[in-house]
Amino acid sequence: MLHLLVMSPTIPPKQSKVPWWKTGVIYQIYPRSFQDSNGDGIGDLPGILSRLDYLADLGVDALWLSPINPSPMYDFGYDVSDYRGIAPEFGTLEDFQALLAEAHRRGIRILLDLVLNHTSHLHPWFVEASSRRDNPKRHWYIWHDGKPTPSGRRAPPNNWLGVFGGRAWEWHEPTGQFYLHSFLPQQPDVNWRNPELRAAMFAVMRYWLELGVDGFRLDVVNWFIKDDRWRDNPLKLFGGLRPYEWQHHLYDKDRPETLEIMREIRQIADAYGGFTVGEVFTPPPGNPELVAAYYDRGRGLHMAFNFAFTYCPWKAESFAKAIERFEKALSPDDWPNYTLSNHDQPRSFSRYGNSLPRAKVAAAMLLTLRGTPFLYYGEEIGMSNTPIPRARLQDPLGRKYWPFHPGRDPVRTPMQWSAEPKAGFSSAEPWLPVNPLYPSVNVAAQQNDPASLLHWYKALLRLRKSEPALRLGSYERLPAEQAVLCYERRLGEDRILVALNFSSTARPLHLPPEASWKVLLATPAFSGENLSGTLLLAGDGVLLLKATA
Ligand code: GLC
Repeated sequence: MLHLLVMSPTIPPKQSKVPWWKTGVIYQIYPRSFQDSNGDGIGDLPGILSRLDYLADLGVDALWLSPINPSPMYDFGYDVSDYRGIAPEFGTLEDFQALLAEAHRRGIRILLDLVLNHTSHLHPWFVEASSRRDNPKRHWYIWHDGKPTPSGRRAPPNNWLGVFGGRAWEWHEPTGQFYLHSFLPQQPDVNWRNPELRAAMFAVMRYWLELGVDGFRLDVVNWFIKDDRWRDNPLKLFGGLRPYEWQHHLYDKDRPETLEIMREIRQIADAYGGFTVGEVFTPPPGNPELVAAYYDRGRGLHMAFNFAFTYCPWKAESFAKAIERFEKALSPDDWPNYTLSNHDQPRSFSRYGNSLPRAKVAAAMLLTLRGTPFLYYGEEIGMSNTPIPRARLQDPLGRKYWPFHPGRDPVRTPMQWSAEPKAGFSSAEPWLPVNPLYPSVNVAAQQNDPASLLHWYKALLRLRKSEPALRLGSYERLPAEQAVLCYERRLGEDRILVALNFSSTARPLHLPPEASWKVLLATPAFSGENLSGTLLLAGDGVLLLKATA
């Protein structure tokens, strides 16, 4: 294994000038739940390595691994205690390097999830910073005296709240100040206004890039900078379930100075040919213009996540508007991206009514749009939200708000590989229960079924690879029946038409008259050449056509 430590093979650049992250498809792995190799009920890096052939066969181009750094796991890795190490639950640095080398050998890139807005309270930086007021690392974090009160106790400096509940300010008795935590008290926010902290974080990026990683998913980048006058957030007239949702978050995130940091991050990544995608979380209904701001017209991050689809009801018009709005928000230098679900959002299969035909429509849309698709592990087999008994809840969000909010455990359950016990994920009881549907919803069963969702995903991924117009062509919406989303992707002479029926009844589809069309892919199965005039698009149906003349 030793040679792997020295050598980190990288993927040779293709002749084409288009960067891989524009043409590729990115697959998110939640490492704790993908594959356990050592029988402790927790997924790990050797487990992922053992599934690389599956991922290569599926046809994805890059893996985004949710955090793998050492962490006390209050927020399952989103609370890092050592930015340069590997969590022992997941393996060793050698295991990571072996994974990187084996992935690269298959042409698959690896993106790490960097959590740079906050550290764990057990990170040595915070341990130092909280030891004394005059510790040199004190201002690597955000401290405040608070406000005096008649009782003599101090009150928090403002009304900011933690995303996971409670105040965002925690009183630190030993040093007599509050510290800021936008998430859990065990996740103190770092101070990005401090040049030393900045340099330390940039060094972390360089460390991994030098080791050969292909880029980063950057956690909550829009929280990096806070208002320097500590102003109160205005209250909202109508909020949601959690007090956090009753504020307009004007002052605790999305401050304009953040963009300057994004530019620096971009420069560092570019120097290594690395890619960055930032999580710019915006609550429903989403805010594409704000997301676009983080691209900063080619100077900011390569991409910022577009979560618009995760908020769309199952209506053609709703998706069409989301696409149009994002396309409009981006400058011509910027590249769109789409995602149906991730480790924080309900699974798309459940959101769209636990329907296999609908899951096929959603997949066809995701994989034929202009922009980089992000897949979430298990989406390709139609994994659904798993009910979690209260006693097995792990996510701090679910533990706090259960039963009103199930938290995020339901979307983080073990990958369903087979009908074997524990779904082939582990020989031990997994850290979260396996979805009870696993005996029928699993990879092995779907590999053998040409009508399965897995086959559909593979066919779409193959098509995207073989048709340049699907990867790089323009996007133009075409007029269609109300429940039908129809668009064309065009590149030079190539024209591909995508028709998606969001209703369960058949609808007429009028083909553009200037060409005749052949079927590339369809569900339900349908084939034909020299098609013209009006076709009948089946209920919940998909037609992908190519112009032949
Ligand atoms: C991001 C992550 C989420 C995490 C939070 C705090 O939103 O996606 O899982 O809990 O940041 O790091």
